[in-house]
Amino acid sequence: MKSIPFVDLKAGFAPIRAEVLRAIEETLTGMNLNIGPNCQALEQEFAAYCGTEYAVGVGSGTEALQFALLAAGVKGGDEVITSPHTFFATAEAIACIGAVPVFVEIDPKTYTIEPQVIERKMTSKTAAIIPVHMYGQCADMAPIIAIAQRREIAVIEDSCQAHGALYKGKKSGSIGNAGCFSFYFTKNLGAYGEGGIVTTNDAQIAGKVRLYRNHGHTSKYEHAVIGHNGRLDEIQAAILRIRLKLLDDYNRLRRERAAAYHELLKGLPIVLPAEAEAGQHVFHLYVIRCKDRDGLKDYLTNRGIGTGIHYRKPVHLQKAVAHLGYRMGDIPIVEQACEEILSLPMYPELSLDDLACIAEAIRAFYTKQGTA
Ligand SMILES: Cc1ncc(COP(=O)(O)O)c(C=O)c1O
Repeated sequence: MKSIPFVDLKAGFAPIRAEVLRAIEETLTGMNLNIGPNCQALEQEFAAYCGTEYAVGVGSGTEALQFALLAAGVKGGDEVITSPHTFFATAEAIACIGAVPVFVEIDPKTYTIEPQVIERKMTSKTAAIIPVHMYGQCADMAPIIAIAQRREIAVIEDSCQAHGALYKGKKSGSIGNAGCFSFYFTKNLGAYGEGGIVTTNDAQIAGKVRLYRNHGHTSKYEHAVIGHNGRLDEIQAAILRIRLKLLDDYNRLRRERAAAYHELLKGLPIVLPAEAEAGQHVFHLYVIRCKDRDGLKDYLTNRGIGTGIHYRKPVHLQKAVAHLGYRMGDIPIVEQACEEILSLPMYPELSLDDLACIAEAIRAFYTKQGTA
């Protein structure tokens, strides 16, 4: 039996191997490793890609969120509204700067924050909103920006899963006050290690992120603020420059694979991912909803097909934030989604034959159950 992995990093590396190894060698020959030429060039190239004035490379998506929040003026004790249907790092970044995450419900179709409920959760302490562009699709940004402008608070986009996604023709990361990206190696634009970047049109935010990522360094021996060691690694930047040139192709191949799944999985008792009219999804993950989720997952595992769950337990119910006092039942749409979601293999190199085998196995599972 042939196994089909959930992601295949080796398949992504093979066609760019020579170029990547050459770039690593050149970087090590130059030994200009501290925010060196590749980091600076990537910042310009990524800003141009996103259509923003600035991009500032940092050590991870988590640091991008922390530094963007700080740069936007969020401070200890402030509240930041976000979705609990996300990777834990979104809330962690808020908590790490001493602010308080406030969790609100999602739209069940797109899994992104529900703008209608944001204002009800706002208090005099609310300082920012972090919409998470979940699975590769932008949140409904127009009403979120309208609320933020009315209340004079910041919008920090969590674009960690949405490199190249569009909302009303604008790139993810170019809509709010700042956009935060992760270059974790499985992302649509992934490094071969850790990395992240903050995009913004605001010169002050860009300047502050530059300070926070580098110990508050203003000049040799001068430190203006308490910052971090949060720089983007120069070797990763060199690799990312190669992969950035391919990002639109990668995203096109992901969208083609999503369309193929959509065709082959029609008519089964599962809910397929929906693409909101205002945007263009880049399918970082292809997430279906199904009743006997764990049964289907086991069935596929036994047939050598890798799957994932993003995520099994919502952030508001995690032990690490128990002190915030959320209980099961508080955010029901998120809680139900966590019971039903299953991420299928999705990567640009996934062959259409393999994809057809995956769809066939899912059909067989439901036929056996008598529900297909
Ligand atoms: C939605 C979201 N936010 C934040 C992060 C954190 O990024 P990193 O792992 O690069 O710190 C991730 C990464 O998995 C993510 O998916």
